[in-house]
Amino acid sequence: MEEKKLQDEVEVSRRQILRTAGLAGAGAAMLLMGLKDKAQASSVSYPQIKVANLKELKAGKSVKFDYPLVGRKNILVDLGCAVEGGIGPNKSVVAYSAFCTHLGCGVELDKESGMLICECHQSIYDPKQSGKLIEGPSPSNLPMISLEVDKNGDIYAVGVAGLIYGLRNNLLDGEEVK
Ligand code: FES
Repeated sequence: MEEKKLQDEVEVSRRQILRTAGLAGAGAAMLLMGLKDKAQASSVSYPQIKVANLKELKAGKSVKFDYPLVGRKNILVDLGCAVEGGIGPNKSVVAYSAFCTHLGCGVELDKESGMLICECHQSIYDPKQSGKLIEGPSPSNLPMISLEVDKNGDIYAVGVAGLIYGLRNNLLDGEEVK
């Protein structure tokens, strides 16, 4: 129903655009592409993918996984203490995009400081504060991965809060994680 509504919206918008004489052809085409993306993205929801088990995690050690599509690397870590958005028995497990929001270099967990630090220009993000940017040239916080845990301790990625570096939509133009 929601998808039908969006498709109708796209159709109406398309007709409006075609009636608008003042719009240049290229500009109108770009606007149409954006509307189609909106409809397509809304019809696709985040997958639920198992990324680890609580037993595999050690405080201060990170685990990498792809989500929501192949090649979209993320970093999962047990911080050893309760934090905002943390899951697990101690509310201490969190995950973030492993791509820095400045220019997309990798971020790694720094054991000494407990911060996520970019390997290129050293932007620093705090995993205890939902990936908040603390220092560096990055324009924004790290996208946080929404996690859930089941009774067996299996950890699932179920969503992403924030736009992953270099993408116009986290769910488009990629291969599904199997
Ligand atoms: Fe990370 Fe520049 S790419 S700070």
